[in-house]
Amino acid sequence: MTATVIDGKAFAADLRARIATLAAAFSAQAGRQAGLAVVLVGEDPASQVYVRSKGRSTVEAGMASFEHKLPADTDEATLLALVERLNADPAVDGILVQLPLPRHLDEQKVIATINPDKDVDGFHVTNAGRLAVGQAGFVPCTPLGCLMLLKDRLGDLAGLDAVVIGRSNIVGKPMAQLLLAESCTVTVAHSKTQNLPEVVRRADIVVAAVGRPEMVKGDWIKPGATVIDVGINRVPGAQDGKTRLVGDVAYDEAAAVAGAITPVPGGVGPMTIAVLLRNTLVAAYRNAG
Ligand code: GUN
Repeated sequence: MTATVIDGKAFAADLRARIATLAAAFSAQAGRQAGLAVVLVGEDPASQVYVRSKGRSTVEAGMASFEHKLPADTDEATLLALVERLNADPAVDGILVQLPLPRHLDEQKVIATINPDKDVDGFHVTNAGRLAVGQAGFVPCTPLGCLMLLKDRLGDLAGLDAVVIGRSNIVGKPMAQLLLAESCTVTVAHSKTQNLPEVVRRADIVVAAVGRPEMVKGDWIKPGATVIDVGINRVPGAQDGKTRLVGDVAYDEAAAVAGAITPVPGGVGPMTIAVLLRNTLVAAYRNAG
């Protein structure tokens, strides 16, 4: 079998176009644009790229982007005061503090300061709790994007066996909650899981979010399974000293067995920003209503 390639880039472009239409309707109705504030502390190059891209996508969707760039040595009180200001600003519907923060800053304390109803990342414990008990809140963008791709491909997920590899607060845990809410039988695997290949071989749905290049092998995949690869790992290229991007799944091997698979790049990656825009628009409607 050769897997169908799940085109996350095309899905995300379509989602962004729909959000732009809805954002225009919001602006007309509310007399202001929906607004997203992004806070970047320090000069991490990857974070700078992400933040630039988020700002550009926000404006392209017809929403207001407020970028706050603070020096790497910003103290906690200054950062928390900025978050409080954004909490109180009626032009700001969503707040995103780019992670990781410099080591002297306490990420959990910063996230806890964001108003949960502006927490478009879905990282606040209030939103994690809402997800766990099935209340409306904000769901982290990457796992929600994975779920959209899965439902687009498979329709009703009820009764399917799903294995999530990775237990981070940002991807693995919320992914497991979302799949459970869809009535999947969910296993969360991690670095201490025994017989991981066997565990993965049972799954109709595999979500790999571990950050280890090409760790999931083709012979771990049940024939016909749907494979969602969240990994973005930069590894040395075969020639010329250039690096290349690979996922957490050995793509060619897995694509020979799976029913459908997301590529890296062009799979899950583009969904994250599209869902961020979606969450921001949802926040705007909730905050305005
Ligand atoms: N760093 C990498 N991904 C993310 C994300 O989705 N949100 C935030 N806030 N920081 C990140």
